[in-house]
Amino acid sequence: LNNYVATNEPIFDYKKNSPEAVKLHATLKEFLSNKKENCDALFDVPIVIGDSEFRTQNAQYQVVPFDHKTKLARFYHADKNLINDAIKNSLSVRAEWENSSFEYRAGIFLKAADKISNEKRAEILAATMLGQGKTVFQAEIDAACELADFLRFNVQFLSEHLKYKPLDVADHTKNNMELRGLEGFVAAVAPFNFTAIGGNLSTAPALMGNVVVWKPSDTAVLSSYLVYKILRECGLPAGVINFVPSLGPDFGETITQSENLAAINFTGSVPTFRWLWKKVGENLETYKTFPRLSGECGGKNFHLIHESADIESAAVATVRSAFEYSGQKCSACSRLYVPESKWPQMKEKMSALIKELQIDTPLKFETFTSAVIDERSFDKIANYIEYGRDSAKLVFGGFYNKTNGYYVYPTMFETKDPKDKLMREEIFGPVLTVYKYKDNEYDQIINLVDTTTPYALTGSIFAKDENILKMTKTRLRQACGNLYINDKSTGAVVNQQPFGGARLSGTNDKPGGPGYLLKWASPLSVKEFL
Ligand code: SER
Repeated sequence: LNNYVATNEPIFDYKKNSPEAVKLHATLKEFLSNKKENCDALFDVPIVIGDSEFRTQNAQYQVVPFDHKTKLARFYHADKNLINDAIKNSLSVRAEWENSSFEYRAGIFLKAADKISNEKRAEILAATMLGQGKTVFQAEIDAACELADFLRFNVQFLSEHLKYKPLDVADHTKNNMELRGLEGFVAAVAPFNFTAIGGNLSTAPALMGNVVVWKPSDTAVLSSYLVYKILRECGLPAGVINFVPSLGPDFGETITQSENLAAINFTGSVPTFRWLWKKVGENLETYKTFPRLSGECGGKNFHLIHESADIESAAVATVRSAFEYSGQKCSACSRLYVPESKWPQMKEKMSALIKELQIDTPLKFETFTSAVIDERSFDKIANYIEYGRDSAKLVFGGFYNKTNGYYVYPTMFETKDPKDKLMREEIFGPVLTVYKYKDNEYDQIINLVDTTTPYALTGSIFAKDENILKMTKTRLRQACGNLYINDKSTGAVVNQQPFGGARLSGTNDKPGGPGYLLKWASPLSVKEFL
């Protein structure tokens, strides 16, 4: 463990007839003909607590977003009693797990990373493509690369923390600091949009010696279950992570009512995180420790274009950031600021790019983006599009159709009101709004970028002028947690751009960086008199 050095998992390109592409096509086909006996969906996903599987009366379905007649997985919501059983079960194995060696724990997660990058890669990609509507490239960078990266780099970060040795300066003293897990359990609440995030929310605390009750997203349940199964196959003891799909309010109320709640590791919306935080506040006097709350809560991310920018590359970056995975990355660009003099070139380039892109099923590997995650999301995005049709000018897109899948086409609006709700609210779909500013108003625009939304997740500045870059960067210092210069605002890579936002985007604990792990540790300082 001492000398472990991780490297980022290479990205496969799935070129036609490449061995990876052939294998993935075959796996997708297998998944789509899997038809489980006694199940009206292709897969059956149980609740797992300890070594026991549970199937409640409350059956739910994960459908294929781009073909919603196809039920991908039947799964079950745990009720409050089962969630409580999961907490109890986790606590029963806590001491043994926490006392196990770092090498032993790291070994399990490294083995899982290798499985994900090798023999299980096609399966985990297929589950992510079919369940979450990702294209092959988006599934690859998430469910194969980022997931394996989190598992490996967390081990490297841990080994770096273990090297810390307090000073021994006083006579006859020896000092040490040991890393313990938190006393209690960690609740992990995961989003649909990254298979890797669910994997990291649950495994990072577990690596540090914690037990975890994991609520996967209903719309990512199959890929999450496959991750869970891989962890168990690689030696994760029963109960260290319990797999508990459930209704958000049931899960939230149950975990926050337990006196043993030690932490919540959350990715999702601002209202849900606030609600959890309030529940913790209400129960604060009952806890044995102060629960740690870590949250990543979305954004309203900007691309700010200066007149000195290379407009062609800014246009490509903006199309990718706003429309890859249909704008469903927390980091996606959704507000764009362009100087008047450059707008015709920018608009033309972006419109030309959009025309070339295929919006279709991810089963065709050349597809650029596919359907959005579910009907609720589709309806929400469609409402914003209708709103935009009245309040702004449609530049391209504006179509949506849910006959077979939840398709929303890349859409761009031009607004005259830089504070319009299209510029302020998180839509979580392929809707981009541009505000065109007078070239000599750049200075005011920086203030506008900084103050328009309550979020501060990602942002990009495009300029060639070095002084402009320096000045803008300084003034937008608090406007995001991940700042990009002359690049798109999406695609943070583990240990290259540790990820997270401030303000209402979250607690900015930076998964993918070393600091994140200390959130899940309760260090013990030991002074020994010799
Ligand atoms: N890590 C992702 C990105 O940077 C977002 O969660 O796009």
